[in-house]
Amino acid sequence: MRFCPKGYSDEVEAKIQQYKRDGVRLPQRHLLRTAEQLAGIRESAKINTALLNYLSEHIEEGMTTADIDQMVYCFTTDHDAIPAPFGYEGFPKSVCTSINDVVCHGIPSTKEVLRNGDILNVDVSTIYKGYFSDASRMFMIGKVLPEWQRLVQVAKECRDIGVEMARPWIRLGDIGAAIQEHAEKNGYSVVRDLCGHGVGVKFHEEPDVEHFGKRGTGMMIVPGMTFTIEPMINMGSYEVFIDEADGWTVCTEDGLPSAQWESMVLITEDGHEVLTE
Ligand code: MF3
Ligand code: CO
Repeated sequence: MRFCPKGYSDEVEAKIQQYKRDGVRLPQRHLLRTAEQLAGIRESAKINTALLNYLSEHIEEGMTTADIDQMVYCFTTDHDAIPAPFGYEGFPKSVCTSINDVVCHGIPSTKEVLRNGDILNVDVSTIYKGYFSDASRMFMIGKVLPEWQRLVQVAKECRDIGVEMARPWIRLGDIGAAIQEHAEKNGYSVVRDLCGHGVGVKFHEEPDVEHFGKRGTGMMIVPGMTFTIEPMINMGSYEVFIDEADGWTVCTEDGLPSAQWESMVLITEDGHEVLTE
């Protein structure tokens, strides 16, 4: 059965009531998308994905991260949309660009040139007709060290494992645990201080989606939720710090590289649908 946007089947409603009686943590009703919201979120997500596809064709060695910011701003506004990062809690640019030991929230700069061997995360978020979407991908510039290529690959696998698991009536901790196991099995660590999140009606909504944790714990996943899965995987320790100079840039404590891929999913009655990747 598919997610039924007109309201829940009796079966879903009965399950929600049962879990409520059992004292299981459930999402608040406003986090379960209506048909109208979902239509808007899908449109926003389409633009967000088209933007990442466009960037994939244009990102190359020698350009600056400010050039990427420029492309994001122009492409998004050309599609009658708004780059969600711009002005968000004071963020100064339209996109986050995070190179090598920068974990996330890097600020594009005319002084920052993409160099041979860099690994780069580009995180784009779009507002269209008031609805939000979010996704990020890694880009490898020129000839990247094999050990770094493996980090990028395993980070993608971690995201994909999380997305594949996403379905109703399991717990968020089930997803986190699966991601953590895969990262640690490969000798890497999962960043603890930043997480995925509900997204759609606002940029960042409940719940927090941690990429580590214990099976059988955390919020119950319910049809109609939309949230991101965006594990940040470090080659070394999971410790990070925020650059005090700009208040945004998150870096690994040990200076080793970090990689991240982000998708946004809709929970349906029998599984999930990938909205962005
Ligand atoms: N796109 C980021 C995320 O995945 C959020 C960036 S907030 C910003 O949640 F202000 F830095 F853009
Ligand atoms: Co996000």
